[in-house]
Amino acid sequence: MLKNDLLLRAARGEETERTPVWLMRQAGRILPEYRALRGRLSGFKELVETPELAAEVTIQPVDALDVDAAIIFSDILVVPEAMGLTYEMVEARGPLFPETIKTAQDVARMRVADPEEHLGYVLEAIRVTKRALGGRVPLIGFAGAPWTILAYMVEGHGSKTFSKARRMLYTNPELAHELLDKITRTTITYLQAQIEAGANIVQVFDSWAGILPPDHYQQFSARYIAAICDAMPAGVPVTVFAKGAWFAVQDFAHFNCRTIGLDWNEDPRLVRAAIGHEKTLQGNLDPCALYGSREQVQTATIEMLRRFGPQRHIANLGHGVYPDTDPDNVRVFINTVKEFSTLAREG
Ligand code: CP3
Repeated sequence: MLKNDLLLRAARGEETERTPVWLMRQAGRILPEYRALRGRLSGFKELVETPELAAEVTIQPVDALDVDAAIIFSDILVVPEAMGLTYEMVEARGPLFPETIKTAQDVARMRVADPEEHLGYVLEAIRVTKRALGGRVPLIGFAGAPWTILAYMVEGHGSKTFSKARRMLYTNPELAHELLDKITRTTITYLQAQIEAGANIVQVFDSWAGILPPDHYQQFSARYIAAICDAMPAGVPVTVFAKGAWFAVQDFAHFNCRTIGLDWNEDPRLVRAAIGHEKTLQGNLDPCALYGSREQVQTATIEMLRRFGPQRHIANLGHGVYPDTDPDNVRVFINTVKEFSTLAREG
């Protein structure tokens, strides 16, 4: 039993007494208590792979910020690792794959991972977190979209263009599909296992959606996300967040998902007009708006709430919170959502 189920009700399209709010990438980075714990460890992976520690940092933002959901502390890159491609998290630089996918043999070597066997530490972190949360707020599970995962597996690290990964879509589309299929199969059983372990809602992050042209997005990303949505158990809401993929929003409107995440380039009024009222929308304050003064944060947040309207909205940023954001401004954002959306309903 959940004490606060606002997020789930909003996702299902039920009326809520105020707009629920959480932040992508709320766990870690901006919180001093995260940095303190992280500083005592060998690195990011120790945190991700130790269920008690992952649970602790998952709950930190619930305590510190009073958000309406927790998101399990992990990373999208645990999936390629489970398939046989290990990653490193380089301090102050980001992820690095010492080996990358180049040939048919490389793809053949990748396994369709078994969630309990290869990702058991995430599932255990979910179980520990659920117990420790005691029903205070829902727990969000997540995975990367197959295209975004392929992009890291082929490129080997972050990039502005991901041109090695994008090159494969032109030069060897069959191989790309073979890899996307293995990633999709892994992701489906992984998300199903997260739900079994206690995740109340799952989000698919397609962080590199916006670098594909619309036809490639259809062929190499959207259809695999659709397959993931179709495979989720009825009653557990799915959120699709495809950054930069404004051109695909009308397709998402027909997916088996409850919520569509919008980045800050998208105007929620236009999206509503285009897709109707069947889906809940999530987002989309510009993360840089949180660098402003307290008053500027309030004004920008209220303006965002007005654009979405009171119902069928989960307030969030348009992408993950940036590490150098003042947690006090994050609190202003959260409190403004809570106060203004309550008042707006009272008329
Ligand atoms: O609070 C949460 O949202 C939960 C945890 C979470 C992390 N990564 C922890 C993390 C989530 C949901 C992710 C998702 C993720 N990881 C995405 C999709 C969302 C997005 O931002 O587009 C992507 C693309 C990654 C890959 C990744 N992981 C990158 C590019 C980096 C380096 C840059 C960065 O964001 O810091 C990471 C590292 C990472 N993942 C950190 C955290 C807290 C920082 C590392 C540290 O603390 O040492």
